[in-house]
Amino acid sequence: MANVVVVGAQWGDEGKGKIVDWLSERADVIARFQGGHNAGHTLVIDGKVYKLHALPSGVVRGGKLSVIGNGVVLDPWHLINEIATVREQGVEISPETLMIAENTPLILPFHGELDRAREEAASKGTKIGTTGRGIGPAYEDKVGRRAIRVADLADAATLEARVDRALQHHDPLRKGLGVEPIDREALIAKLTDIAKEILPYAAPVWKVLNEKRKAGKRILFEGAQGALLDIDFGTYPFVTSSNVIAGQAATGVGIGPGSIDYVLGIVKAYTTRVGEGPFPTELLKEDGTPDADGERLGTRGHEFGTTTGRQRRCGWFDAALVRQTCATSGIKGICLTKLDVLDGFETLKICVGYDLDGERLDYLPTAADQQARCTPIYEEMDGWSETTEGARSWNDLPANAVKYVKRVEELIECPVALLSTSPEREDTILVTDPFAD
Ligand code: GDP
Ligand code: IMO
Ligand code: MG
Repeated sequence: MANVVVVGAQWGDEGKGKIVDWLSERADVIARFQGGHNAGHTLVIDGKVYKLHALPSGVVRGGKLSVIGNGVVLDPWHLINEIATVREQGVEISPETLMIAENTPLILPFHGELDRAREEAASKGTKIGTTGRGIGPAYEDKVGRRAIRVADLADAATLEARVDRALQHHDPLRKGLGVEPIDREALIAKLTDIAKEILPYAAPVWKVLNEKRKAGKRILFEGAQGALLDIDFGTYPFVTSSNVIAGQAATGVGIGPGSIDYVLGIVKAYTTRVGEGPFPTELLKEDGTPDADGERLGTRGHEFGTTTGRQRRCGWFDAALVRQTCATSGIKGICLTKLDVLDGFETLKICVGYDLDGERLDYLPTAADQQARCTPIYEEMDGWSETTEGARSWNDLPANAVKYVKRVEELIECPVALLSTSPEREDTILVTDPFAD
């Protein structure tokens, strides 16, 4: 028996979806524990592409229990649409195979409106570059003890009281932003309608998962975003509004931290970021547009967001940052993804630390002004001209690619457990099984 947490170890989009789908063969339950439909997880199975946002990446396999935990913020209308989309692709979803924690807070239409209105009103330097999906405002309401949760949908009087509490907070806020007040009756009607579709999936997830655990079932926890977007340990304030690091897996479903046996970090062989915020190894020209290497990484890696379609910023691998995220999430092994994107580069650079006002640092400092003054210290390595795309064994990798992987392991002080060499499910090399007892 082993329970495994998968987390992104950079700024998201590391390839978590592909690896969770691949690992889900070995698991009984796949549970999302934070984030919402700001996530975009792409799976490619025999050429067929699945794009998941709120649903756990185990749904496609069938025969597994998928769980949306209380650490998630859930847009019920989005979820029902996403279920319909994947059903059209032949995926079976029913209350037997999908459970939503009763204590999951909902993302409501006014959360998205507030998120977008704030971003539009933000001046340069304060814009976050959010996905506009209402994630921040929904988490604010959760912590502010005024969220509407899944269980509240079951009782008309409770729902009305919760709506009134939310309006009390949001209407004055909207007035300040020049947005019209919320239509109370329309919102209650909309919630009453969606309740019929959502409630069949509602369950005491903490109880179900603890029973599964006792029965020796394997749980795979699927993180969204990446550790550098964590509300506490990310590049604040340019972060998402949840804890992303592995510790959140326990509180995000209601299981003890002792039940987590292995944390797998998903790490892209270079670095990308969507949205605003510091990015020390970003490959830019003087005018702020991508330089030739940055363009090449973006083009070869198809670096466009799954959720918003925005172009991702690209840069060299930052070993200092990944060493840091391996520490904050207790990562035991990594899956290095998109190694194939580096094929054909004559020289590769790896950031091994930073220069801050003449002093060498081996981690990114917390203060924003210091982060801005950090310049990366690079180590150079020879690239490889052979292709690694689709490689399914170590022996298929060119010598310089093996050297690169080994150097990454040394610098981040964490071993490679898996390697990914294309978007396809089976183009995955297993070195150490995270589920092994
Ligand atoms: P996630 O948010 O971490 O699940 O990652 P995304 O799905 O947003 O972005 C990763 C992208 O890279 C997707 O389009 C995947 O299909 C693709 N991908 C995953 N692993 C590999 C890989 O090893 N090589 C290449 N070339 N693409 C990959
Ligand atoms: P996956 O799970 C990459 C980024 C946004 C923005 C910041 C805050 O696919 O890796 P939010 O809408 O969460 O308030 O936006 O976080 N962001 C992501 N970047 N991958 C993601 O998810 C992300 N989810 C949020 O671009 O910078
Ligand atoms: Mg993504």
